[in-house]
Amino acid sequence: MDLTSYQDNGYLILNDFLTEKECSALIHRAQELVSEFEPTDEVKTVFSTTDQAHTQQKYFLDSADKIRFFFEKGAFDEHGNLRFPKEKSLNKIGHALHYKDPIFAEISNSSKIIDLAKKLKISDPLLLQSMYIFKQPFIGDEVIPHQDNTYVHVKDHPITGFWFALQDATIENGCLWVIPGGHKTPLKSRMKRHGDEISFDIFDDSPWELEKMIPLEVPRGSVIVLHGLLPHMSKENLSPKSRHAYTLHLMSSEHDYAEDNWLKKPTV
Ligand code: FE2
Repeated sequence: MDLTSYQDNGYLILNDFLTEKECSALIHRAQELVSEFEPTDEVKTVFSTTDQAHTQQKYFLDSADKIRFFFEKGAFDEHGNLRFPKEKSLNKIGHALHYKDPIFAEISNSSKIIDLAKKLKISDPLLLQSMYIFKQPFIGDEVIPHQDNTYVHVKDHPITGFWFALQDATIENGCLWVIPGGHKTPLKSRMKRHGDEISFDIFDDSPWELEKMIPLEVPRGSVIVLHGLLPHMSKENLSPKSRHAYTLHLMSSEHDYAEDNWLKKPTV
């Protein structure tokens, strides 16, 4: 593993990290979870009207230690009904798959993932959150440029993201884009939680240098390691192919977790 490249660029690609069997197991398990999921009115309305923003926020804020389902913003019509089947309408599942679901837990806590963390010098690694991201055909929305440390903050230490491609990720279906070396610039903003209220501290409101973004097209089974300060994004998926990915965010247990993160620090 090329640690120097990671330190220089802020990201690292390892092909064939997950096996075919592991990719298939995670995709299959996500399908099972979705088929068991009932999109009740409460959950549906959460995302159907802007005046439900508070409810939406609460559903999100309470998801740190749960398996919850989040829809694409274009999933509902003006009456709050799903325009497509639920399995074609979800944006992601989060944020505790890595310990609440046995299949996700087994792979998330496997020795090769812990070993990868240790090779990256994350001592006594702690998994903070997990997400299954669908990037649905035709309606998979863009993810605007950001640094992961904006959303989950560890004092004076960047978190680390592992982004597993469960399907081939291409420019057409919305692969990741990054600014190589961009992790050397400071954090631009921080999201904070006060009770059930969310606020942002803005440290630098200059625009992102989008012209420096490069696409990271990777085949199924690859993992992309992301430094917590690396600017990254993904574009809309307007293609007929989905782009399923699984992500984990990690920190070293030795570092200080910010108490005002939206995400409660896992105790498992
Ligand atoms: Fe991110």
